[in-house]
Amino acid sequence: MSVNVDKNLPDIYMKVSNIQQVFLNIIGNALDALKSSDEKSLSIRMYANEKCINVDIEDTGCGIDHDHILKIFDPFFTTKPPGKGTGLGLSVSNSIIKAHEGTINVFSEKGKGSLFKICLPLNNKKKISIILVVDDDIMIHTPINQYVPFFH
Ligand SMILES: Nc1ncnc2c1ncn2[C@@H]1O[C@H](COP(=O)(O)OP(=O)(O)O)[C@@H](O)[C@H]1O
Ligand SMILES: [Mg+2]
Repeated sequence: MSVNVDKNLPDIYMKVSNIQQVFLNIIGNALDALKSSDEKSLSIRMYANEKCINVDIEDTGCGIDHDHILKIFDPFFTTKPPGKGTGLGLSVSNSIIKAHEGTINVFSEKGKGSLFKICLPLNNKKKISIILVVDDDIMIHTPINQYVPFFH
């Protein structure tokens, strides 16, 4: 596994817990994909250009069927056995990245591996609004925090 993070990445505004969720989903998928492949390599790169911070997550796992590539961001699309996959990871990740005005793209070849490319735009400051929920009743604030996780 290799992790390569450029020094001096610019600061951007983000909902950190949501972006962590995206990384966990995509890295979790990569680890699943690597289980069945002989070559097991995972590489994560973070670098900036004038428009965005790019995060590339690349694995040498099983790859994605050509017929599936347009479906993987659909809610509940999964190729994993029941109990293993919910099919929600990429759909939620896509919503989170969109809420940050970013993009997420995938390049994959069956049997070779997959590359997920996330772009988080710089200067998104003005577009962010945050919903503050103040309530001392755990039955109220826990579900609200779970179901309103993204900023719009
Ligand atoms: N890195 C990857 N390599 C191969 N297939 C992948 C990869 N990431 C996602 N997929 C495919 O996309 C599907 C949907 O992923 P996801 O939304 O995270 O749901 P889940 O992981 O619960 O199946 C997976 O079931 C798998 O078929
Ligand atoms: Mg997943």
